[in-house]
Amino acid sequence: MAEHLAVSVHFLYPGVVLKGDAFTENGEKVHEGYVPFTDEKIAWLKARGITTLYYTPSEEASRCLGKDPIIPTTTLEKGLDIAKEVEKRLRENAPLPTKEINGLIDEFVDKIMNIQGTTLNLAELKKYDEYTYTHSVNVALLSLMMGKKLGYNEEQLKIVGVGGMLHDIGKVRIPLEILNKPDRLTPREFEIMKRHPVYGFEMVKNVYSRFVQSIVLYHHEKVSGGGYPLGKKGQEIEEFAQIASLCDVFDAITSSRPYKPAQPFWYALVWIYREQGRSFSPRLAQTFVKELPQYLGEKPIFPAGSFVQLNTKEIAYIPQDSRTIWPVVYLLINERKQIPPRRVVIDLSLEEDRFIERQIFDEKLVATLQQVAQKFLGPEETPPNWKLK
Ligand SMILES: [Fe+2]
Repeated sequence: MAEHLAVSVHFLYPGVVLKGDAFTENGEKVHEGYVPFTDEKIAWLKARGITTLYYTPSEEASRCLGKDPIIPTTTLEKGLDIAKEVEKRLRENAPLPTKEINGLIDEFVDKIMNIQGTTLNLAELKKYDEYTYTHSVNVALLSLMMGKKLGYNEEQLKIVGVGGMLHDIGKVRIPLEILNKPDRLTPREFEIMKRHPVYGFEMVKNVYSRFVQSIVLYHHEKVSGGGYPLGKKGQEIEEFAQIASLCDVFDAITSSRPYKPAQPFWYALVWIYREQGRSFSPRLAQTFVKELPQYLGEKPIFPAGSFVQLNTKEIAYIPQDSRTIWPVVYLLINERKQIPPRRVVIDLSLEEDRFIERQIFDEKLVATLQQVAQKFLGPEETPPNWKLK
């Protein structure tokens, strides 16, 4: 099979989708691309002794599919080539290609300042070993969009762009068996991994401004402390570095890695929202979660017909495609685990203390919830694909 990605069944979880049809080692197709895995399906695979699935990301595999991309494809490809060149030069102990990096970021800044398209077309991973390059380009692009939303000027945008592109360069000094390990790192390996911000800082120290240096050095620090390498807190971590940290996490969560499938956008957005005050400053986390989804392609964050569990343990139904993590929902099961006597509509964007915690994919539970939801839906509102008895 050409250009396929492998995923361990061990790392599948309910709700995950693979970006192409999934096959066994023997070429037997066992799951459709883009169809969420359920508990039942994962159990079925395990019961058959299937440990690894293989899939080829389809042409439409882009996370951010849109008719109207903000970044021209040629510029995006140039970005990936420059990211590759950065790594090559560092491995040869040659100087960073600063002219190329700066030229690329100037082009990105121009496109982000004068937005023409509708979709921030993030670079898409086709093979695991391309992750370093797609990740650098994506953190640069996401950081630039964040900078724009925060009202940064051109100079500030260039800082977050270059910093985003170079934040992880210290990883070239981390042994590949740790970097690409298809499993959890041991404490000792993690200690080695945690050196990459310092290595990276040394690489940009005499090349870029102290602002870019701080992005590289502090992109794993957390506002509440407890990050690495220095355990800085709050204001001690410059906003530029906090932006890189946030965009780093978003791209990492939504990308496939040898040890995990890509998670959907809603999962990363909810994660970031919940980490406000811990990993990220509330202002930045809220800006990201409110402002970025509109640029993340044509697919909704939650499709109409989804069932979700709220942090209050209430269960709700999403009647319309949602472009935010705070859609309007119908309450199906309340906090007392009861079905409300009549339709209760909740606009989550107006509710400070209620938010979506997870989407529900358990087949049996979904079937039951469809029956419950029908009670609150008009005949024209019931999705046609529901198999109601
Ligand atoms: Fe990093």
